[in-house]
Amino acid sequence: PSSARRTDDGAITIGGVSAGDLAAQFGTPLYVIDETDARTRAAQLRAAFDAEFARIGTTVRVYYAAKAFLSTEVARWMVEAGLNIDVCSGGELAVALAAGVAPGRIGFHGNNKSRAEINDATRVGVGTIIIDSPVEIERVAEAAGRHGMVQNVRLRVNSGVHAHTHEFLATSHEDQKFGVVFEDAPALVAAIRAQPSLNFLGLHCHIGSQIFGVDGFAESASRLLSLQADLLAGGPVPELNLGGGFGIAYTSVDDPSPVADLAAALADIVAAECARRGIPVPVIAIEPGRVIIGPAGVTLYEVGTTKPVRIGENTRLYVSVDGGMSDNARPALYGAEYSVRIADRVSEAAPALVRVAGKHCESGDIVVDADYLPGDVAPGDLLMVPATGAYCWSLASNYNYVGRPAVVAVADGEARVIVRGETIDDLLARDAGVPRSAHEVS
Ligand code: LLP
Repeated sequence: PSSARRTDDGAITIGGVSAGDLAAQFGTPLYVIDETDARTRAAQLRAAFDAEFARIGTTVRVYYAAKAFLSTEVARWMVEAGLNIDVCSGGELAVALAAGVAPGRIGFHGNNKSRAEINDATRVGVGTIIIDSPVEIERVAEAAGRHGMVQNVRLRVNSGVHAHTHEFLATSHEDQKFGVVFEDAPALVAAIRAQPSLNFLGLHCHIGSQIFGVDGFAESASRLLSLQADLLAGGPVPELNLGGGFGIAYTSVDDPSPVADLAAALADIVAAECARRGIPVPVIAIEPGRVIIGPAGVTLYEVGTTKPVRIGENTRLYVSVDGGMSDNARPALYGAEYSVRIADRVSEAAPALVRVAGKHCESGDIVVDADYLPGDVAPGDLLMVPATGAYCWSLASNYNYVGRPAVVAVADGEARVIVRGETIDDLLARDAGVPRSAHEVS
């Protein structure tokens, strides 16, 4: 986070609170979110997109992609920064509503929303539902009709563009579960328009996540705007949702485009493509998650064991911490890379190549595959892994009956729990075979 500092005594502070104090007060592993940083990123992103799209004569709706990290507190920060909330399950919807988010500010996604989810979403009056397959048209229309309302919908289209980090693929990504087939979109939009209980807002596409450049977005926007031009013959298409996916730096080699540059480039592309086709510039919607909350979070771990492992001529120092793939599945799932540092002291010791491993019974349980720590790293040291705000807590599991860690928000020298950690009692409470309180008695 932008507030992380190394003080004179070697301790790292986040939001003005020392990592050592956080660990002492709340235990480890611990997710720490810098509230000011998260709020600032949300507000700055919105301001950048507002300014760039105002320049081309339109407005932008920014949705925060709640799948990256959601709690009621964080949902409120996002709304206070002027963002809407994008949810993709009934559970995420319930949390957003519990946070007091106005239903009209919620967009509801999912490639297999249940009938109950669709019913609840239309009943509470979510702002938009993103239709992801042909059968959903009737399902959403019927639910909206039942509640006597007209539901705004977008149609998610597979633009055929797939992007990840540096590259994008312009073709051959049709074979995936999200969105409707590009060529089918006109007929499906006609079917939406034929439903009196549906109001067609526009198209949606999402081309991937952790994207560094603008080329994939440009290609996808161009394809969708060509479709948009065709659809205008049959009625209004007021909006275009370009999805999320803006990348962040996890290690020092990552070099994502700054958000302001992405906003400027996207506005230029949209303006040029609309001008070329002679169509009005639609209202633009975007749905970033990671770029807002990812850099605002860190995870603190305590070192339990260190073990030099000889590999031929070389030695790798394995440093095992008190969490792992249950609080950060991304290295195991995606080969994701992170960095690490000692958070409670500085050392003059020569750097050693380390691999930070978790405590789970699985050899793929890696937190940081390769980084350097002072060679005297030892049991009891406090480690900080930056950029864990997105897709870590939200992807956390209870593998090996390890409770999910607490989430603490820090700001202006104060820390407070925003999601309590799980205890073994929480986990045993769901086991129907445990006599009540037996585990406490034994
Ligand atoms: N909109 C839609 C329709 C999405 O599917 C996603 C992410 C987003 C927005 C937000 O994308 P973001 O701006 O956060 O990149 N678990 C993976 C990432 C999965 C992303 C899923 N969809 C990871 O940890 O890398």
